[in-house]
Amino acid sequence: MTTAAEKLDSTVAEIAAEMTARTDRGLVADYIPELARVDPNSFGLVVVGADGHVAAAGDADVPFSIQSISKVFTLTLALGLVGDRLWQRVGREPSGSPFNSIVQLERERGIPRNPFINAGAIAVTDVILSGHKPREALGEIVRFMRFLADDSSIVIDDAVAASEQRTGFRNIALANYMKSFGVLENPVDFTLGVYFHHCAIAMTCRQLAMAGRFLAHDGTNPGTGLTVVSQERARRINAVMLTCGHYDGSGEFAYRVGLPGKSGVGGGIMAVAPGKASIAVWSPGLDAQGNPLLGSDGSGDAHQTHGLVDFRSIGPNGGCPACLLRAWDDGSLPKPRGIGDESGLAHLSRKAAV
Ligand code: DON
Repeated sequence: MTTAAEKLDSTVAEIAAEMTARTDRGLVADYIPELARVDPNSFGLVVVGADGHVAAAGDADVPFSIQSISKVFTLTLALGLVGDRLWQRVGREPSGSPFNSIVQLERERGIPRNPFINAGAIAVTDVILSGHKPREALGEIVRFMRFLADDSSIVIDDAVAASEQRTGFRNIALANYMKSFGVLENPVDFTLGVYFHHCAIAMTCRQLAMAGRFLAHDGTNPGTGLTVVSQERARRINAVMLTCGHYDGSGEFAYRVGLPGKSGVGGGIMAVAPGKASIAVWSPGLDAQGNPLLGSDGSGDAHQTHGLVDFRSIGPNGGCPACLLRAWDDGSLPKPRGIGDESGLAHLSRKAAV
């Protein structure tokens, strides 16, 4: 008889093989020149189940630039430092705008819409920096990542950080604009220096999936038994990931995938299936919104075949994000039944506890 772990392993391997064969891979980010050097054919996928079983396939152990995925961890740190006062400096509404947009900042007096667009993440970084030297703040962030992933080998890719520092004119504009409204406390150069460097942290899918475990399990890492944040805070961070984690593609990701997830222009996505699994996927090619194309792409077929854990029971045509979602259906979840199936939706949300 096939065990759940074996089924997970074979599903993950099958998805990686399928995705590796795909030719429509999107475009690698090149506005940070160092990222343009990455092989667009890379593909990695790791799912860590609640029991600690790790299913890994493809380039699961190749480090890549986590970029905006780091914003989930800086948000967590900043909430730990200042609690709900953080929300005076940054909102928690979807922006509906590109990740590097400046347009809402003028109307909203320099307060960024959410902590995941660049302006919001820069404001969050500024909160972490206050009272510290940039090097200390960065040390805190890297140590936090190592603690979460239980892996001391995680480092910053200095070439990527320097590359963005040389070309980050939009972020420089955003930071100066916020500074003019008094939203940033620290010198703009210091805040941006820390921001560019935390975006340049390099991690593998395995490390990222491990680091995300606390969010999949109500704030506690089931591997170490250590509580990172309260249950309430973990759920709130997941809520912000679900609504804002993919910028102006967040609605689409929620519709097709239905999980809290955060993308990065390095091609990674970290997502969580609450109570079930932590997932990391890496495919460097991006879609028009700057989100990983294969990471969130899907097929109706797979959706019908596998019956997955998320909001997709509300419609038969939602694509199943091939690489994220096939992996942890343990058979306990309802199969999609069609549009307007409220009982299915209620059952699903109870089970998935998103
Ligand atoms: O600030 C930037 O533009 C990058 N360091 C991060 C942007 C990013 O990852 C957007 N995500 N898809």
